[in-house]
Order: sequence, then C-alpha cells, then structure tokens
Amino acid sequence: MAKLPILTAPDPQLKKKSQPVEKVDAEIRKLMDDMLETMYEAPGIGLAAPQVGVLKRVIVVDVAKEEEEPQPHRMANPELVWVSDEDNSYQEGCLSLPEHYADVVRPAAIRVRYLDQENEIREMEAEGLLATCIQHEIDHLDGVLFVDHISALKRNMILRKLLKAKKAAAEATV
Ligand code: NI
Repeated sequence: MAKLPILTAPDPQLKKKSQPVEKVDAEIRKLMDDMLETMYEAPGIGLAAPQVGVLKRVIVVDVAKEEEEPQPHRMANPELVWVSDEDNSYQEGCLSLPEHYADVVRPAAIRVRYLDQENEIREMEAEGLLATCIQHEIDHLDGVLFVDHISALKRNMILRKLLKAKKAAAEATV
C-alpha cells in the first residue's frame, strides 16, 4: 500500500466529474487500499478518488470510533437508490478543505448501491454519520464540495482563506 498526496481546495481537479469504473480489478483494488491508508493516516473518515487526483468513481469510508474495530467500506460507482424524507445536520469537514467546518443538511438515511472490492454489486442502508459521510464522498465524484451546500458568503470566506494558506505555503518553499 502507498500513501497518496491529497489535493486541497481551491483546485480545478476537485471540481471535475469522475468517470465510472468499468470493473473492479487489481488496479482499482490497489487504489482502494491506497486510499484507505491515506485516509487513516490523515486521519479522516472518508476519501474520494478525485481528492488524490484520480477521476474515477471510487470512495472509501470508515466511521468506526478509535476504540472500535475498523469498518472500512470500499465502493466503486456508488449511487444513492433511496434517501429518507427526514434530514440531518452534521458539522462536516473535508481533507481537501483542512481546518474548515460547516453545518450541512442532508437526508438522514440512505440506501447506496455500489460495486465492492470483488466487483460484486451490493446495496447497503446507512444512517447517522455513515449516511452523511457516504453522501459527502459521492458529492466529490461530481465535483461537489461540502462548502457548495452552504451560503456563498461562508463558502467564499473559506475558499479565500485556503487560497491564502496555499500561497503562503508556496512562498515559504521558494
Ligand atoms: Ni471531503
């Protein structure tokens, strides 16, 4: 396994739409494993392939608490086949928007269909943090960031700060 560099906003790659995976083969399985390693090291609870510069519809998620056994989910071509009428609000963060958080409202429960690491079609129901996290990661596959769900005022403030931090980091390495 290998740890991959994570792209941070603003970055045009993060706004692009990812392509479906034709088949979960050895290459996609390696991508899933590398993404999980990258996510655990960050640390984070979810990661989408475009965040590591790969425009493929692949996500990994693990919302288990530190004292619990890991519960990694590897998903290719995830799609929501049902969402609840009831909504939930969570304070979301993102490895591509480090140190920024905002309350985002999404459906409280979902049913997701995906290809697992063996290329089998699976469906899973999720609620709570897991449902939020899966929706957040699927958004990444369509070039949508959590800040796209909040007011333009707040979004622009966060993106301006991230740009400033990026410029400062670039200048420091010159
Ligand atoms: Ni994210």
